[in-house]
Amino acid sequence: AKRSLSQLCTNYERPSFGIAFDIDGVILRGRKPIGNSPQALRKLYDESGTLKIPFLFLTNGGGVPESKRASELSELLGVNILPSQVVQGHSPFKKLVKSFENELIVAIGKGEPANVMAEYGFKKVLSMDEYASYFDNIDPLAPYKMSPNNNITSNGSSPRYDVSSERVQAAFVVSDPVDWSRDIQVLCDILRTGGLPGKEIGHQPPLYFAADDLEYQAAFSSERLGMGAFRIALESIFNRIHPDALQYTSFGKPHPFVFKNAENILNQLQPFSRDNHVVKDGDAVGHPLTSLYMIGDNPAVDIKGAQQAGHPWFSVLTRTGIFRGNENHEEYPADLVVDTVEDAVNYILDKEI
Ligand code: G3P
Ligand code: MG
Repeated sequence: AKRSLSQLCTNYERPSFGIAFDIDGVILRGRKPIGNSPQALRKLYDESGTLKIPFLFLTNGGGVPESKRASELSELLGVNILPSQVVQGHSPFKKLVKSFENELIVAIGKGEPANVMAEYGFKKVLSMDEYASYFDNIDPLAPYKMSPNNNITSNGSSPRYDVSSERVQAAFVVSDPVDWSRDIQVLCDILRTGGLPGKEIGHQPPLYFAADDLEYQAAFSSERLGMGAFRIALESIFNRIHPDALQYTSFGKPHPFVFKNAENILNQLQPFSRDNHVVKDGDAVGHPLTSLYMIGDNPAVDIKGAQQAGHPWFSVLTRTGIFRGNENHEEYPADLVVDTVEDAVNYILDKEI
C-alpha cells in the first residue's frame, strides 16, 4: 500500500532508499536553479524542514570547502544543506593528508583551492596564484592579462616559503583552472624539474586531479571545457617537452570508489532527528539503504559511474544539461530518462513511498 511522506515521517520509519544529485546541469546552471530543483528538494523534508529522505550532492565540481558550498547551496535552493551532504570532486583529497601533511604542495583552480586543502589538514599549501607570484617573469604573458591575479607579485610581504630551494612535493588540481596558459606553464616547470622551477631536473612530483570531466554544463547554452580538457592540454604539452609521459591520478565520478563513498555517507545520514543530526563516521544507522538513485546529466560520468557501481544504484538521466536526446543515451543508457530533476524526484517518491 502506498504511504505518504508525512505518514512515513510520523511513523519514524527509516526510508530504504537514498538519492545522489549531480549539481551542474541537474540542480544548477551557473548559480541559477534549473528543473524546479528547489521544489524537488523540498519534497525530501517534512513541513518543519526536517530532512526525511537521505540525499547528498555528488558533484565533480568544487573550489570551496564543503561547509561553504553547503551554505551557498542552502541559500540558492532554500533548504538546509549540511556539509556532510556535499561531496565534491576534491573531497577524496583529504585521504592524502597523511602523505603530504607537512610537505610543500601547490593547489590549482577557481575559488579558494588553498583553503580547501588547508581545511583538509594540509599544512604547507600555496595556491598557484601565490606560488607563481614568487617568481619574477615565470609567466611572460602576465603583463597582457586583465585578470585581477596578474599583478600578485611580491607586494611587500615576504614569501611564506623559499620556493627557490624548497621543492614542491605534489600538485593538486582542485577545481577548474582559471588561467590555463599560466597554469600549464608553471605546472610543466614544477613537474619537469622535480618541484623547483627554473632549476635542475628531478623526478616528477605526484599530480592529482579532482575530476576528469571533458565538458560540463554551465550557464552558457552549449557545454564548457572542464578539468579533463585541461588535463589533456597539460598532458599533450608535457609529453612533448619531457622524455617520460605525465603521471597523474584523477578522482571524481565515474570512479566506483566515489559511489561507494556516497553510499557510506547516505547510510550514515540520520534523517529522523529533529536537529538533522548526522552520526559519526562508521556508525551506520539501521539497515543499509536498499535503493540508491543517481540523478545526473552526463551519460559518460554520472550514468556510467552508477552503472559500474552496480547494485543498489539506479541511474536517472535528465535533459537539463549535457544530455538533450529524445531517447536514451546510446553508449551509456540510463535506467530512466526524464526531463528534469523534479520529474526524477516525483518518480522516485512515487515508486518508493
Ligand atoms: O566543474 C564542474 C563539472 O566538472 C561537473 O559538475 O556537478 O555536473 O558533476 P557536476
Ligand atoms: Mg553535471
